[in-house]
Amino acid sequence: MTVYAIIGGTGLTQLDGLHIDTELHIDTPYGAPSAPILRGHFAGREVLFLARHGHPHRIPPHQVNYRANLWALKQAGAEAIVAVNAVGGIHAEMPAGHFCVPEQIIDYTYGREHTFFQADGQGELEHVTHIDFSYPYAAELRSQLLAALQASGCSYSDFGVYGCTQGPRLETAAEIVRMQRDGCDIVGMTGMPEAALARELELPYACLALVVNPAAGKSSELITMADIERVLGAGMDQVKATLARVFFSNKKTALIGGFFIGR
Ligand code: HPA
Repeated sequence: MTVYAIIGGTGLTQLDGLHIDTELHIDTPYGAPSAPILRGHFAGREVLFLARHGHPHRIPPHQVNYRANLWALKQAGAEAIVAVNAVGGIHAEMPAGHFCVPEQIIDYTYGREHTFFQADGQGELEHVTHIDFSYPYAAELRSQLLAALQASGCSYSDFGVYGCTQGPRLETAAEIVRMQRDGCDIVGMTGMPEAALARELELPYACLALVVNPAAGKSSELITMADIERVLGAGMDQVKATLARVFFSNKKTALIGGFFIGR
């Protein structure tokens, strides 16, 4: 039977339209996930739902237990993951309200537990593992997201490099200039190590990013939570419509939502 999972954060403490059957309290060798995993039905399919930032939303991006979240999802039966993330727009063609399904990642985070392949205080590893991460996102899942965005009439880009910063503060304008020079098109705080951990668990993974603000220095206005929340509110229906199309056309997908799902 097809299983989908959705992980939501700020605002996505629950997904409208998700009929919950079971609340899964899964403990992992890495601790507890951000919230119980909800198993239910959305858009006619069985799905798993996990709030990345907890429910209620209270875990900042740098303190999310990404390892526990991914491990618990795998335990719950997820076989692929679509992560939903709110991001700032760096590329000139990625204004607030625009969607991006990135192709690549640059990781600027630090100090996060970012791998399953390390000795966690119980002796040494049997062998050292280096996963291939040349192409961090699953091509087929990306295509499904792009098709769904198109069918939903959303404004979107089928390219993009996601620069993941540590947070929780937003970036300086100079940091964004540097990130743009590096090739980043969008900036967020939750894309890593999530994507790499999914790869370590051999879970196909893709990202549906909603631009909620122009990145620092890209607008004459300061970035306010009120402005971000306005965009999140407006983008929510499009997110849900897009996810519903993916669910209808796909099997065995886990969705990880960013901090805007569930309003
Ligand atoms: N920077 C980093 N993370 C974000 C942003 C941003 O501008 N907007 C939403 N998440």
